[in-house]
Amino acid sequence: MKQVAILISGGGSNMLALVRDMAEGGYARPVLVVANDPTAKGLERAAAQGIPVAAVDHRPFGRDREAFEAALAAKIDATNPDILCLAGFMRILTPGFIRRYQGRMLNIHPSLLPKYPGLHTHARALAAGDAEAGCTVHEVTAELDAGPLLGQARVPVLPGDTEDRLAARVLAREHQLYPRVLRRFAVGDRTPLLLP
Ligand code: GRF
Repeated sequence: MKQVAILISGGGSNMLALVRDMAEGGYARPVLVVANDPTAKGLERAAAQGIPVAAVDHRPFGRDREAFEAALAAKIDATNPDILCLAGFMRILTPGFIRRYQGRMLNIHPSLLPKYPGLHTHARALAAGDAEAGCTVHEVTAELDAGPLLGQARVPVLPGDTEDRLAARVLAREHQLYPRVLRRFAVGDRTPLLLP
């Protein structure tokens, strides 16, 4: 059975969606949830599910990204994962770290890539007057938010939408999309999944 390590920075709602789907589908199992912030709420939520957790606080490493990533990779590699899922992980990873896991590392991004790579995706969609928004799961490559597309889900932008309302609508779709993509990826199917 494929072993999955999940990297988080915050609440971990996407992590929980993945964990629940793995428990239900039995196609993979979570072997680690690791955060770059020891206070990330997702760590408690993962531990409550009986999943091994770890934290590597990036702050003591300052600008030395490589040193932070070496500590992070040590925690990850100790659990011998087949697949890594970035789920609300908010640190930029260096090409060196990505090369280590390329081809087996996924990320979910809250926009319809290639639109709006980077941050503040919902504010940008609203400012542009887009009629729809959504989320994308992609393979992680050295170029930020630009790897091969594995799945997308769309939502309407509604009149009067605020950033928070749109973010909540997209987040609900993230929780549908990411597990479905992981199911496919775990059996080697990289066909992009476009949710209706
Ligand atoms: C979500 O907005 C998601 O789009 C992005 O990180 C945010 C927090 O996700 N990837 P989570 O609740 O920590 O999974």
